[in-house]
Amino acid sequence: MRAVQVERTGGPEVLTVVDLPTPDPGPGQVLVDVVAAGVNYIDTYRRSGVYPLALPAVLGSEGAGHVAALGPGVEGFAPGQAVAWKEAPGSYAEQVLVPAGELVPVPDGVELPTAAAVLLQGLTAHYLATDTYPVTAGTWALVHAGAGGVGLLLTQLLKLKGAHVLATVSTPAKAELARAAGADDVVDYAQASARARELTGGRGVDVVYDSVGKDTFEDSLTALRPRGLMALFGGSSGQVPPFDVQRLNALGSLFLTRPTLASYTQTREELLSRTDELFGWIAAGRLDVRVGGTYPLPDVRRAHEDLQGRRTTGKLLLLP
Ligand SMILES: NC(=O)c1ccc[n+]([C@@H]2O[C@H](COP(=O)([O-])OP(=O)(O)OC[C@H]3O[C@@H](n4cnc5c(N)ncnc54)[C@H](OP(=O)(O)O)[C@@H]3O)[C@@H](O)[C@H]2O)c1
Repeated sequence: MRAVQVERTGGPEVLTVVDLPTPDPGPGQVLVDVVAAGVNYIDTYRRSGVYPLALPAVLGSEGAGHVAALGPGVEGFAPGQAVAWKEAPGSYAEQVLVPAGELVPVPDGVELPTAAAVLLQGLTAHYLATDTYPVTAGTWALVHAGAGGVGLLLTQLLKLKGAHVLATVSTPAKAELARAAGADDVVDYAQASARARELTGGRGVDVVYDSVGKDTFEDSLTALRPRGLMALFGGSSGQVPPFDVQRLNALGSLFLTRPTLASYTQTREELLSRTDELFGWIAAGRLDVRVGGTYPLPDVRRAHEDLQGRRTTGKLLLLP
């Protein structure tokens, strides 16, 4: 099978397509024929060494496909079944071993590429909009990178809850997409804090969802109302350096969290209930999953360059 391997950490040039033997599923594992693999920012962190990766390794974590074979002890899945997953190391490949506990059945109303496109970013948007902050009708939220993969989904989920959304983007074309996803107002990053105050009568927004990190973090804090919540959930511009917690006091008893998806899908029940809700909204036409780019496996370097070069919108998929 063909797979995208990393032998040393570095830029997109370390991504190499190789031929590897098809693995045998061990106890609790399922072998899946991959139809589409999700490209996520976390893959770039692992490729470059920001997050640890035991090398050599096949990159990727998310995808959708058909069950090919079941390992010993696996129940509840059958060969040919449509499935998706958010965390199976080695997903940039024609076949991958997925722990059965990570596999989610894909219902008839959802296409496999859509399932691959929504799992990781959609589950992230889901926990951010439902649990990280108790969003209700009238909540004011600032969403950075509003035309990105998570950004477009998060904006839609916030609007489903009746929130007001101020989004940031870098180009007019991206602004149009953020607006189409429901953002009430869209500005360039430099205007975010001032606009947040204008829109809320000087008070500040209730919650900031910041995935950009290093470049936006300080400004994001000043966009919040007293006792508002900063959800720093990524570092597309780089990681935020160590932070003096006294600043939370000075800025108005702010809350700061650095959430991660694993903490919000700790049990199989939690994984399935969030996924069921996402798939239900997709099938009902209430959630639009935008695939902004598809790449054949040999073009994987271009996919990473485009994502990190801010040239993409929505979700990127690798098609093995
Ligand atoms: N904690 C979690 O649970 C979790 C889960 C999933 C993803 N994430 C994080 O969420 C973020 C978004 O992931 P994604 O896959 O949906 O990516 P994405 O938002 O589609 O892509 C990143 C976007 O960030 C914006 N950006 C602003 N400054 C940038 C810079 N200096 N370099 C690169 N991009 C910059 C760009 O949009 P503009 O051109 O409009 O500025 C770019 O398109 C990532 O940081 C990722 O690590 C976190």
